[in-house]
Amino acid sequence: MQLLHSPTKTHSFLGFILVSTSFGVVYLLVSLVVLRTSKLLHVHSSSQDVSAQTSLDHLVFGIASSKNSWPKRKEYAKLWWKPNQMRGCVFVDSLTAKDQPSNNDTSLPPLCVSQNTSHFRYTYRGGYRSAIRVARVVAETVALNHSDVRWYVFGDDDTVFFPENLVKTLSKYDHQLWYYIGTHSESYEQSRFFGFGMAFGGAGFAISSSLAKVLAKVFDSCIERYPHLYGSDGRVYSCLAELGVGLTHEPGFHQVDLQGNMFGLLAAHPVTPLLSLHHMDYTDPIFPNMTRPQAIRHLFDAVNVDSQRILQQTICYDRWFSWTISVSWGYAVQVFPNHMFLPDALKVQQTFKQWKKGNVFASAYTFNKQDLHPDPCKRPTIFYLDTVSSSKNGIMSNYSKYYQNCTNDPASPRKLEVIKVVTHKLDLDIKKLQAPRRHCCDVLPSTARDVMEIAIRECKEDELIYMH
Ligand SMILES: *[C@@H]1O[C@H](CO)[C@@H](O)[C@H](O)[C@H]1NC(C)=O
Ligand SMILES: *[C@@H]1O[C@H](CO)[C@@H](O)[C@H](O)[C@H]1NC(C)=O
Ligand SMILES: *[C@@H]1O[C@H](CO)[C@@H](O)[C@H](O)[C@H]1NC(C)=O
Ligand SMILES: *[C@@H]1O[C@H](CO)[C@@H](O)[C@H](O)[C@H]1NC(C)=O
Ligand SMILES: *[C@@H]1O[C@H](CO)[C@@H](O)[C@H](O)[C@H]1NC(C)=O
Ligand SMILES: *[C@@H]1O[C@H](CO)[C@@H](O)[C@H](O)[C@H]1NC(C)=O
Repeated sequence: MQLLHSPTKTHSFLGFILVSTSFGVVYLLVSLVVLRTSKLLHVHSSSQDVSAQTSLDHLVFGIASSKNSWPKRKEYAKLWWKPNQMRGCVFVDSLTAKDQPSNNDTSLPPLCVSQNTSHFRYTYRGGYRSAIRVARVVAETVALNHSDVRWYVFGDDDTVFFPENLVKTLSKYDHQLWYYIGTHSESYEQSRFFGFGMAFGGAGFAISSSLAKVLAKVFDSCIERYPHLYGSDGRVYSCLAELGVGLTHEPGFHQVDLQGNMFGLLAAHPVTPLLSLHHMDYTDPIFPNMTRPQAIRHLFDAVNVDSQRILQQTICYDRWFSWTISVSWGYAVQVFPNHMFLPDALKVQQTFKQWKKGNVFASAYTFNKQDLHPDPCKRPTIFYLDTVSSSKNGIMSNYSKYYQNCTNDPASPRKLEVIKVVTHKLDLDIKKLQAPRRHCCDVLPSTARDVMEIAIRECKEDELIYMH
């Protein structure tokens, strides 16, 4: 609401008036009225002030947990939950005496006890009837009656959200319309079985407040019709399908139905803000030599400096040595010892293992992947994030080499020890969110034999990223 008065907002609004011709006069009159009465409107009905930019306080979170998993999983929530700035609840089946103090821990979301769902039928053989309780988190979160809500965001207790990016991404959409926003699984088999049109629950998903209110009203009647489904997300999806609403796909959500080393997936993130990561207990720590929570905390060192740029992939070419350099900002830099076509450098390298054993679809993915070279010494040299710092000259992040026991020739990128990357803080406006473009980078003249410096910037109008 405060942003109606901000100079940039007013400026762009006036800019729009100037370029629109047919509606110009009407808009000018309306805008004068709006600008003059905006203070008045705030006093009377801030909830109807739809022109203000979406912010964190327009979101309400519903996180599915249980009394058994919360004590461990709350370590993940601590990383992204911003006390006093966020609203919502962690839904558990019951509270133990031990939970009570943590219920009062203000660094964590409050705990809510789910309602009794034992009267609903559950018939999926080998499944867990807690799916019904978790599905009802959607309705029970709406029933908390928070005011001025634009979006409800749902996830599991092992979903790590990136709140600033979530706000940015949701601000592209009109919360007064009906939206169901999320993503399918990386595993072809999981997506095929549960549905490409279903937002996978662990990846997290968002429902606009206008839709959520209607969904909450009819939800129990839907649950009655789907006792045969496996999970909670399938129940939400089915009810939304009955309301006639389909999924809006946002690839920044990540279900992470993978095992092992998810480096390949993180290093080739699509050109869109990172919204979530899931299943961190099933994958290796994302940085070597760290525990899982340490590794996620290390990623947040970069997120806290430039949330919107985290994992954004930029490619440049070193002409002298014929290297291809891929920066996944805030995480890792890879230097390939040869020039590669850009589309090849954008493929996900299969560093991970499949989620579950099974048919041929279980080892297929919902993105283009590239097999790793069997010889580790023929693979790109990887540099992992070391430190990030911000100053008035920009943001400097440096990355240290991950040691591999390989014999090098003098033109090998393995002679490098450190890569330094200079950027400016990314702040995507609505147009850049709607029509994103990858950034460009330059290899700067080197200051030391074992250091490479890279500067990332916006590409020029007709600039191409290609090998020379
Ligand atoms: C929560 O903590 C505050 C201060 O630490 C205390 O006054 C309050 O009684 C606590 N509430 C509960 C429900 O434990
Ligand atoms: C839930 O409801 C059923 C009856 O519908 C009752 O038998 C059961 O004790 C209730 N469970 C709890 C935890 O209240
Ligand atoms: C929310 O509002 C509804 C309807 O006004 C009411 O029945 C319900 O008890 C309220 N819930 C809470 C948690 O205040
Ligand atoms: C990782 O840890 C091992 C032993 O714990 C150590 O020898 C090695 O230098 C560490 N590597 C890095 C990159 O810190
Ligand atoms: C990484 O950057 C920081 C400053 O941002 C600097 O102090 C540090 O020496 C750098 N590390 C390496 C290995 O270059
Ligand atoms: C590196 O590899 C060489 C040859 O494969 C081997 O002799 C040497 O012991 C290895 N060094 C380390 C530190 O593993």
